[in-house]
Amino acid sequence: MTNFRAFRVEKTDTGFVRSVVERDEASLPAGDVLIEVRYSSVNFKDGLSATGNPGVTRNFPHTPGIDAAGIVLSSSDARFAAGDEVIVIGFDLGMNTSGGFAERVRVPAGWVVRRPAGLSLHESMILGTAGFTAALAVHKLEAVGLRPESGPVLVTGASGGVGSVAVRLLSHLGYEVAAVTGKPEQEAFLRGLGASRILSREEMRAGSEKPLLPEAWAGIVDTVGGTMLFNGVKSLRYGGSLAACGLVESPVIPATVLPFLLRHVNLLGIDSVQLPLPQKEEIWQKLAGPWYLRGLETLEERLTLDTLSDAIDRILAGRMVGRGVLHLAD
Ligand SMILES: NC(=O)c1ccc[n+]([C@@H]2O[C@H](COP(=O)([O-])OP(=O)(O)OC[C@H]3O[C@@H](n4cnc5c(N)ncnc54)[C@H](OP(=O)(O)O)[C@@H]3O)[C@@H](O)[C@H]2O)c1
Repeated sequence: MTNFRAFRVEKTDTGFVRSVVERDEASLPAGDVLIEVRYSSVNFKDGLSATGNPGVTRNFPHTPGIDAAGIVLSSSDARFAAGDEVIVIGFDLGMNTSGGFAERVRVPAGWVVRRPAGLSLHESMILGTAGFTAALAVHKLEAVGLRPESGPVLVTGASGGVGSVAVRLLSHLGYEVAAVTGKPEQEAFLRGLGASRILSREEMRAGSEKPLLPEAWAGIVDTVGGTMLFNGVKSLRYGGSLAACGLVESPVIPATVLPFLLRHVNLLGIDSVQLPLPQKEEIWQKLAGPWYLRGLETLEERLTLDTLSDAIDRILAGRMVGRGVLHLAD
C-alpha cells in the first residue's frame, strides 16, 4: 500500500489543528477512481472546512480541498483507465470526503471530468472551483441575454478567486468591466485583468436605505452577498441580471420586490457543487476553447502543502489575491 502526503485538520479540545501528515491509501474512502493529485487550489470553502464550519465538514480528522486535478492510477469504472488526466471539483470532495490537499484522492466516477484538450491540469487548477464558478455565472448571465453591447458589467469581491477570473473572462469576451474591491492597492492588478473602472466597497454599499438606485449595470457577478448584492440588484439597468455566487459579506440580503416589479431584473442562482456532470463538462469545454484565457499564471500564487495553512488564514480574512494553487507534483 502506497503512502502519500496530506494536509490534515484535527479537532482537539483547544480547537482545530492543522498539520501535514503521511497517510496510506487504505485510509481513503471507498470509490471508483484513485487519482494521483498533481494540483489543487484554495477556495473560500476550504477555509470554512479547515476551521470546522459544520455546514461544510462534520467529521474530523479531515483533509480539505474541494478541487483536484491529476492522473488516474486505477479505476473500477470502465469510463476511466490508468494514465487518464482528470479534474474533480465540487460534489462532496473536500467536504466530508477526503479532499485535494493530498497526493491521492479516491472518488466516485460520477464526479470525474476528463481534462479537456486545450487546458492543462495546471491551468485547470489556476481556475479551480472559483474560476469555474465565474465562468458558470457568465454562462448563466448570457443565457438570459447579456451581451457586451448590453452595457457595463460589475464584479464584486473582484480581487478574490471568483472575482478575478470573472473580471478577466468578461474582459476577454469584450465586456466593459467595473470592479468593486476593498484593496485599493490592487487597482493595477485589476486593470491588468481588464477592469476599466474601480469602485470601493463603500461606494457599493452607499444608498442601502433606498428602494432603488440609479440604473448603472447590465449585469453583475456578485461574490459577496449582503448589502452589496442587493444594492447591485437595485442598480441594474432595466431587464438586467445579477448572478449570486457568494456570501463573504453576508448570506442575508436586505431585499424588497421593487427592483423586480419596476425594472424587470433577474436574480440568478449559481451552484458549482451539485451542477450535473454534463453541464460541468460543457463549462470546462468552453474554458478550454472559446473562453480560453491566456496567461492565467498572472492570477496564480504557488503553494505547497507546507505553505497552505497561511493561505487558508488569508482567504478567510479576505486577504487573498487571485488564486492560490497547490503544487503537489509538477
Ligand atoms: N456558488 C458557488 O458554487 C461558489 C463557488 C465558489 C465560491 N463560492 C463563494 O464565492 C465567494 C468567493 O469565493 P472565493 O474563493 O473567490 O473567495 P476569495 O478569494 O476570498 O474572494 C472573496 C473576495 O471578496 C472580497 N471580500 C472579502 N470579505 C469581504 C467582506 N466582508 N465584504 C465585502 N467583500 C469582501 C475580497 O475581495 P476585494 O478585497 O477585492 O473586495 C475577497 O478577496 C465565497 O463566498 C465562496 O463560498 C461559491
